[in-house]
Amino acid sequence: MLVTLRELLADAGRHGYAVGAFNVYNLESAQAVLRAAETLDAPVILATSEKALRYGGWRELGVLLRTMAREARVPVALHLDHGSSVESVLLALRYGWSSVMLDGSHLPYEENVALTREAVRVAHAVGVSVEGELGEIAGIEDDRAVEEGRARLTDPEQARKFVKETGVDALAVAVGTSHGAYKYHGTPRLDLERLSALHARVPVPLVLHGASGVPAHLVEEARALGMEIGDPQGVPDDLLREAVQRGIRKVNTDTDLRLAFTVAVRRFLRDHPGVFDPRKILEAARNAMIKVVQHRIEVLRGGTIHDG
Ligand code: G3H
Ligand code: 13P
Ligand code: ZN
Repeated sequence: MLVTLRELLADAGRHGYAVGAFNVYNLESAQAVLRAAETLDAPVILATSEKALRYGGWRELGVLLRTMAREARVPVALHLDHGSSVESVLLALRYGWSSVMLDGSHLPYEENVALTREAVRVAHAVGVSVEGELGEIAGIEDDRAVEEGRARLTDPEQARKFVKETGVDALAVAVGTSHGAYKYHGTPRLDLERLSALHARVPVPLVLHGASGVPAHLVEEARALGMEIGDPQGVPDDLLREAVQRGIRKVNTDTDLRLAFTVAVRRFLRDHPGVFDPRKILEAARNAMIKVVQHRIEVLRGGTIHDG
């Protein structure tokens, strides 16, 4: 059933867990996310970036994903990820998304507030939830000057003010994660004290972007299959669990699904050189993505701090 982000995250807050948001762009990725969620009887978020929507078409993906979300046996939010403008938000509203993100995090504070507030005005008018973002989602590096690193992380008092001034339903915060496969050069870390302070001050659910785990077994297999992958590093499961315990209620994953997809396709083609039925190839990819989503949902269950 299709629900808003607000409804999903309210339940997560009451029970102390985080809802997984997974980036999708076609039939198979969406099937993987929904099948995994249904197997575990867990609510889930189908997230689409603007790039994914350019790739698949707003109207086409809107019809597909909305239909799939409505018919799912678990609560599903259809969410615009990193919306960059009010025009994008309006397209999402027109094509049936139940949740949008307006990402003004790169803007000066006042401009971020003004843009986000406008997104909230148009989205709330039709009952759609809004996620905003404050701070720069870029890792805490071992070799970066500590002060410089901290300056980019979300300030708890400013975050409280931002939520009050914009009316957002959820807030993405920067506590040391970054997008993509290469998150850390040294030891993976998050500013957990800052996260607790944010949870204490900010009256809406907190969102963690750039949270992929980049599992070592997938990286090793990717290498063995000839992928040029360097030395990627993600957020370890235990650190993610700790983040949920400290108040994260929505966790975004894209990279892990991309990796699982690519490894599965490479493996399948290596093992079945005579097969050229795309459905068989995509089925292998879909099964690999299902496993990743199931694992992530299991990690996100079971925080201990309950909100309000
Ligand atoms: O946070 C960004 C997501 O990983 C989406 O990436 O813009 O390449 O679709 P994309
Ligand atoms: P990852 O690159 O860590 O998967 O992050 C995805 C994300 O934040 C999407 O908004
Ligand atoms: Zn993101």
